[in-house]
Amino acid sequence: MPIRHLYVHIPFCPKICPYCSFYKEASDRNKTQRFLDALLAELDRESARHPLQPQTIFFGGGTPSALSTPQLEYLLAGMRQRLDLSALTEWTLEMNPATVSLEKARTLRALGVNRISMGVQSWDPALLAVLGRVHTAAQAERSYELLREAGFDNVNLDLMFAIPTQTLAQWEATLEKTIALGPEHLSAYCLTYEEDTAFFRRFQSGEYAQNKEWDADLFELTLDRLEAAGYEPYEISNHARPGRECLHNLAYWQGADYLGLGPSAFSTCGSSRWQNVANSEQYSNHILSGQSALGFHESLDPAVRLSETIAFGLRTNRGVACTLLEPWKSVVDEYLREGFAVSDGERIRLTRKGKLVADTLAEAFMGAESATA
Ligand SMILES: C[S@@+](CC[C@H](N)C(=O)[O-])C[C@H]1O[C@@H](n2cnc3c(N)ncnc32)[C@H](O)[C@@H]1O
Ligand code: SF4
Repeated sequence: MPIRHLYVHIPFCPKICPYCSFYKEASDRNKTQRFLDALLAELDRESARHPLQPQTIFFGGGTPSALSTPQLEYLLAGMRQRLDLSALTEWTLEMNPATVSLEKARTLRALGVNRISMGVQSWDPALLAVLGRVHTAAQAERSYELLREAGFDNVNLDLMFAIPTQTLAQWEATLEKTIALGPEHLSAYCLTYEEDTAFFRRFQSGEYAQNKEWDADLFELTLDRLEAAGYEPYEISNHARPGRECLHNLAYWQGADYLGLGPSAFSTCGSSRWQNVANSEQYSNHILSGQSALGFHESLDPAVRLSETIAFGLRTNRGVACTLLEPWKSVVDEYLREGFAVSDGERIRLTRKGKLVADTLAEAFMGAESATA
């Protein structure tokens, strides 16, 4: 069976945000061409090892749109030459509003990208400043219009809530403004204080604080507003108009095999999971000298894959098949009793109350030993 899902990591950003822990670095024009050649060489290398016929491609980062239009043209044309795209249905590329132009958007559309995911985070100028974003709200709105003008009819906007100093009214205004623009998909992430970020240090020093009840209020407001506006909350942080779910992410959550290219990218294929080195210089050096860029490899036993399927399934509105949960009957009964989950006899789904603590609930299904507990 060919691998059907391809991820490509572009680690460059116009400016580094103080809350972000993705592998990224400030754009450096001198390194980029070499990096693009490494990506295409890695695609050649991996295609020789695994049959590849993508249904979905996801360019993530970092900020893929930090590449210039000629660089994107070079990379995408190189990929088109190498890949069998006859089964492709979704090709997403992540953009930062500060790196969108009409020419770039038209070029991407012409080369086959049919879905854009843009990081807006907030429409509030004060909160954009707290987040250290490189763009203004007006620039984000203009970029959204340019994407539409270029013909993109499948657009996701990323938003964040529980930002330090954010009020309920500010979050409501951001949701309303987004709904008024009418993107097909919305990702609304609760801010997490990730280790090794400036925000985490401020959190540790007590300057920033986390309040789970406050986060829950903002989450409830998100569900209320977006559902009333016709967005289905098909995953805890993801909301889509009917038929506009992100197929690439759905494939991850359903446990499909995927191949990741680029520094720090993960791949999962059968019982193997591996990750490339999280260093673009080393990545390019290894690949361009004909070596692997492997940084980490593990064998996944079936119990681990089952735990992951359950944890991801619980985050989605499809839920998890009851048959998969049979070894944990007493845990499931408790979740049903406590109102964290409901069952229709075939599948178990989390309620709103359950979604608020989904990660904690999923922990009960982790690890092979739990299956016999
Ligand atoms: C790779 S970025 C999206 C594209 C582009 N780099 C940008 O920021 O505009 C992925 C998204 O993850 C979310 N994100 C990043 N760090 C986060 C954090 N610490 N907590 C919650 N969401 C976060 C943001 O919404 C961000 O847009
Ligand atoms: S949020 Fe986006 S733009 Fe900001 S550092 Fe992370 S990947 Fe780069």
